[in-house]
Amino acid sequence: SLEQSIRPQLLETYIGQDQVKKNLAIYIEAAKNRQETLDHVLLYGPPGLGKTTLAAVIANEMGVNLRTTAGPAVERAGDLAAILTALEPGDVLFIDEIHRLPRAIEEVLYPAMEDFCLDIVIGSGPSARSVRLDLPPFTLVGATTRAGAISAPLRDRFGVLSRLEYYNENQLKEIVNRSADIFATEIDDYGATEIARRSRGTPRIANRLLRRVRDYAQVKGEGDITLPIAKASLELLQVDQLGLDHIDHKLLRGIVERFRGGPVGLDTIAASIGEESSTIEDVYEPYLLQIGFLQRTPRGRIATPLVYEHFNLEVPE
Ligand code: ADE
Repeated sequence: SLEQSIRPQLLETYIGQDQVKKNLAIYIEAAKNRQETLDHVLLYGPPGLGKTTLAAVIANEMGVNLRTTAGPAVERAGDLAAILTALEPGDVLFIDEIHRLPRAIEEVLYPAMEDFCLDIVIGSGPSARSVRLDLPPFTLVGATTRAGAISAPLRDRFGVLSRLEYYNENQLKEIVNRSADIFATEIDDYGATEIARRSRGTPRIANRLLRRVRDYAQVKGEGDITLPIAKASLELLQVDQLGLDHIDHKLLRGIVERFRGGPVGLDTIAASIGEESSTIEDVYEPYLLQIGFLQRTPRGRIATPLVYEHFNLEVPE
């Protein structure tokens, strides 16, 4: 499907994250030459930067199957055992949001990661006994938006730790052009630049904006994406010059208008604007910190002078 094909299948066609790619290319080639399973990989960084895509690329490059699950979906040890025992030798098991695995399940993972075995308790009470099950060797690829939320014993069992970074404008432009090509949509350089600029360093956002601008071009224009078309549709979407959306605005204006620019605690600001603290922390705040709009201090979040400038407000004394 189109949805699938806008995701690159190979390291060579995966745009950006050059440091991560260079390292992975070496580890993949070395593992393949030794006919061994790739060591476990932890991918961390803000949402939308391509962790899931990269897991699929790793499996594809290794020539193995990809099995996918997510931390919150694994509720019982038996769920994990079912997944692990169904793997074929060398497979990649991708666990998204791995920081949300229940602690008891994490403990099942340790021997699985380290020795490719499972210790299962059968029965209960005095007749309970423990059985050791051998597993096929596999590669665990874990993804998390918060490396700090992963327990040290789990983190220590990954041989490769890769941090994904925000993309620059040129990389996002390349991604937008590549996706437009797959959608068979004409886009000029100015249109692509405009979408790239407003994508908050994030390919997932770039591809989402591209789809919406493409809809607009089709209905309100001739189908081609130009600068005026991109600008008009992004304005209608309430995505501003910097790519900040309605919720970014609510958050920033909330800090400025209700808390005099801060410092204000995360939970306080979250309650005041009616958003989840964890959504603010994982999804909205990282980019605002990156562009210098927010600062985190021990006493809470502060809106910097850049915020006042952006909203044409006077900076308080
Ligand atoms: N689509 C989403 N992320 C991508 C990336 N990093 N490279 C190419 N296409 C992508």
